[in-house]
Amino acid sequence: MDSQTQMKKIVADAAIKEVESEMILGLGSGSTAALMIKSLADEIHSGKLKHITGVATSFQSEVLALELDIPLIDLASVSRIDLAIDGADEVDPAFQLIKGGGACHVREKLVASKAEKLLIVVDESKMVQNLNKTFPLPVEVLPNAWKQVKDMISEMDGCSTLRMAQKKAGPVVTDQGNLILDVLFNDGIKNPKDIEMSINNIPGVLENGLFVDITDKVLVGKIENKIPLVYSPTKVC
Ligand code: 5RP
Repeated sequence: MDSQTQMKKIVADAAIKEVESEMILGLGSGSTAALMIKSLADEIHSGKLKHITGVATSFQSEVLALELDIPLIDLASVSRIDLAIDGADEVDPAFQLIKGGGACHVREKLVASKAEKLLIVVDESKMVQNLNKTFPLPVEVLPNAWKQVKDMISEMDGCSTLRMAQKKAGPVVTDQGNLILDVLFNDGIKNPKDIEMSINNIPGVLENGLFVDITDKVLVGKIENKIPLVYSPTKVC
């Protein structure tokens, strides 16, 4: 296991310690969340956690949960979720996030906003001082609106790239059948709340990957003196 996977695995295991029997759990997407889902399945099948129900945030997490025999319920069928556990692409000191590296941020945000508590699990490389200096902000757009949205974002000083698929000609198509623009602003994102709202106001935009004022706790995996460990930073307000 390489060191980054090691860091992801220890935070994934640490996150499961926050889960209690009977909970309805939001199951995040991405490689760290996948490790968390595997760790959850181990605890369920060993009998340590009972009567857990998952709410998937993507096709990826749904398939994994089904393969691991984790009971699932539709997002539309629950009025609240006890805890959502998810990864992130960038986390700033105020716990504002960029998500959507796996193009799943529409459902991830729906699940997070229905959850009593959002727990984010990341390795140390995701912790940044300023958002969007290097990691582009994913924006999900209706297929026939991508060029119009790209032009409007460029008026906001954002440079958008249509995300292209691998092992398939053409663009990435999301779980909802839409496309993704990856956006870098000239000087990063200093005012995530404003940018989140301004982008979502552009016609043709479904949702962007800024998660603002929604994260309760972050668990970070790091390696110190060759020893993998987990810490939980304090939010800087
Ligand atoms: C998917 C996400 C993921 O949570 C994010 O990309 C982090 O993934 P990973 O744990 O693989 O680095 O937002 O849309």
